[in-house]
Amino acid sequence: MSSTKILAIETSCDETSIAIVENGTKVLAMTTNTQISTHAKYGGVVPEVASRMHAENITIVLNETLEKANLKLEEMDAIAVTYGPGLLGSLLVGVNFAKTLAYIYNKPLIAVNHLIGHIYANNLENKLEFPLLTLIVSGGHTELLYMTDEYKFKLLGETLDDAIGESFDKVAKVLGLPYPGGPIIEKLAKEGNDFYKLPLPVNDGTYNFSYSGLKSSVLNLVNNEKMHGKEIRKEDLAYSFQKRAVEEVCIKINKALDEYNVKQLVVAGGVSANKYLKEKLEDVCQKYNTEVTIPSILYCTDNAAMIGAAAYYLYQKKIYADLDIDACSYLNICD
Ligand code: KG4
Ligand code: ZN
Repeated sequence: MSSTKILAIETSCDETSIAIVENGTKVLAMTTNTQISTHAKYGGVVPEVASRMHAENITIVLNETLEKANLKLEEMDAIAVTYGPGLLGSLLVGVNFAKTLAYIYNKPLIAVNHLIGHIYANNLENKLEFPLLTLIVSGGHTELLYMTDEYKFKLLGETLDDAIGESFDKVAKVLGLPYPGGPIIEKLAKEGNDFYKLPLPVNDGTYNFSYSGLKSSVLNLVNNEKMHGKEIRKEDLAYSFQKRAVEEVCIKINKALDEYNVKQLVVAGGVSANKYLKEKLEDVCQKYNTEVTIPSILYCTDNAAMIGAAAYYLYQKKIYADLDIDACSYLNICD
């Protein structure tokens, strides 16, 4: 089999990332420039700042990636790029850069959905085995899908309000902790106990998720404790919050495993870096003899390698984008 090298570009949020991926599975090189420390000063991603930083860094990130792989743009078979969902200004930097490269070097352009990228991140280390359930848990999305084959998705449920990662970030903010909140909450929770009794979201019997109620109960609790002059036990609150947030996920996965006979549960998105979530999902899946697949941290959070992995299927099917393609800040996986 001849080897296919795809240059993949990801700029949907606050990471400028470029990778060269061979045959959708092997990462030949990747460079990711994270803007986290800049946005942390503002308590969250500032879209204007993010797009400006992408524009400043993207050429440097490209050159560094080509150098690491010791390859030239001429040697690429296609240029892939995230075209949504994400921050519009950030997406536009990547999309315009990709279009320019595709035009100048006369390469096919492949437009990749960021969420599909998160799912295919698993292919970099562990082959996707169908049928499977896939759970996307990130800063912007909480979705549960059923896949019968490559690129065949059925949406089972999604969040009705906040995304799970967003609730980690907001709870961290209330506790005076920096952005992004997820890793810090996870670390604090390791030292805590289930001291605060937080409510589980009302279980409506569907596959949909809800996180705004849990977030509000944390906010109310913090305000009440402050009003009564009580010190917040941050470790305990982090533990109780994380426990409830993960329970919400496990209830839905349990229900889905009752209904669908699958080989794998593929977890994707930034929150899949959470070890407590992984442990609890493994407990649920063990009962059903279902394998839990989670990428290593490098490929859990936003990165271009996952875009190269997802682009490979489209390349094989010759599903190319026109040079006038637009970035889309809102984009469903089943579109
Ligand atoms: O997938 P991602 O990098 O960007 C989006 O597409 O949203 O996910 C970022 C989200 C943030 O909300 C961050 O707090 C969360 O993933 N996150 C975590 C952990 N690491 C990152 N949440 C919980 N535990 C973690 N260890
Ligand atoms: Zn993401």
